[in-house]
Amino acid sequence: MQEKFIEESETRVDVNQMAVFPGAACGSWLSVRLELIGGLITFFAALFAVLSRDTVDPALVGLSISSSLQVTIALTVLMRTASDVETNIVAVERIKEYVELKQEAPWEDPSHPAPGDWPTVGEVTFQDYQLRYREGLDLVLKGVSFSIRGGEKVGIVGRTGAGKSSLTLALFRIIEPAGGSILIDDVDISQLGLHALRSRIT
Ligand SMILES: Nc1ncnc2c1ncn2[C@@H]1O[C@H](COP(=O)(O)OP(=O)(O)OP(=O)(O)O)[C@@H](O)[C@H]1O
Ligand SMILES: [Mg+2]
Repeated sequence: MQEKFIEESETRVDVNQMAVFPGAACGSWLSVRLELIGGLITFFAALFAVLSRDTVDPALVGLSISSSLQVTIALTVLMRTASDVETNIVAVERIKEYVELKQEAPWEDPSHPAPGDWPTVGEVTFQDYQLRYREGLDLVLKGVSFSIRGGEKVGIVGRTGAGKSSLTLALFRIIEPAGGSILIDDVDISQLGLHALRSRIT
């Protein structure tokens, strides 16, 4: 038990380090570059102060050098903040994407409750059923009509891409119809709340 825990823990630390280590290495790399730039600025401020030591006021020299020292810190903070914002804004983007996602039909629909013991017989009828995966795509099921009697076992045959799996998705309304309807025991499933439909036929 203990060994398993240690092993699991080590694996997870390894996985975590795969992301953390490059991040830390990049951070250090950035720091070196930024400090180098800051150092150069300070160096030139000092150099010019020395070169013009006879003409410039000593107070001004002090101010310019101490200001240039602060540039390093400011640069680092600026870059860190900018890269943090860039990293974290991904979360906002993701939420925005989910907010804009088209919602499924209502989970419960009180105005169309499923009849008490529906489905009793299990008779499934497709009427001129059409289905496409997304607006603008071709129809995948181009108006299929068939009827399966209650208790009957059927096999669906067709080459790959014929639409066998799509039929199942249609039955659970994972994908909504582009036309036509599916009746189960004479109830049009497109009228039901999704929860009523999916819980009764699973
Ligand atoms: N997520 C999807 N987005 C767009 N088109 C899709 C998607 N899934 C399937 N299709 C298209 O729908 C058609 C029917 O696919 P489906 O998966 O129902 O076939 P299938 O008969 O189950 O095939 P297979 O025997 O390979 O399982 C295919 O032409 C496929 O290109
Ligand atoms: Mg399939």
